[in-house]
Amino acid sequence: MSYQIRTYGDPVLTAQAAPVDNVDGKIVRLVDDMFDSLVDSGNGIALAAPQIGVRKQVVVWDLGEDPLAIVNPEIVESDGEWVYDEGCLSIPGLYVEMLRPKQVLVRGVDLDGNVIEIEADELEARMFQHEIDHLRGVLMFDRMTPDQRKEAMKEYRRMEREAEAAAAPQRRPLARRLGLQ
Ligand code: NI
Repeated sequence: MSYQIRTYGDPVLTAQAAPVDNVDGKIVRLVDDMFDSLVDSGNGIALAAPQIGVRKQVVVWDLGEDPLAIVNPEIVESDGEWVYDEGCLSIPGLYVEMLRPKQVLVRGVDLDGNVIEIEADELEARMFQHEIDHLRGVLMFDRMTPDQRKEAMKEYRRMEREAEAAAAPQRRPLARRLGLQ
């Protein structure tokens, strides 16, 4: 089942997600829902459970090979520096060139309950850093320099206003039809 992606301003995105004690059928269903939601989002490569409103430490991703999932992921090592034009499904439309480590070693649990380690580089490493941040309630804005944050916030507010203005003419006739004010 597909869920709407929560966007900036929703408190679930700034909350700490809980570790998963037991990888059971509920978690497998959650992962399925996360894949459905990721596919429906159109342009995402990865999703963290809080982005569909679930405060659990689960991440799914699809970099064009197999769709995969990891539970309770953490970064145990990181190295190097890499700049990437980073975006977020929860901050739609905003892309900011951000510097983060180039390589990471991620440890977590797979859907069979086995501890796994993944060595990731460049885009895959960036994806893990971004999604694991979501599990800690950390968003791209929190990783920006103060100047970047100021600019990005201004740009995002501008896009939000444009989206609201574009949606408004469709809402009013419907409200009138239903007799609402
Ligand atoms: Ni994101």
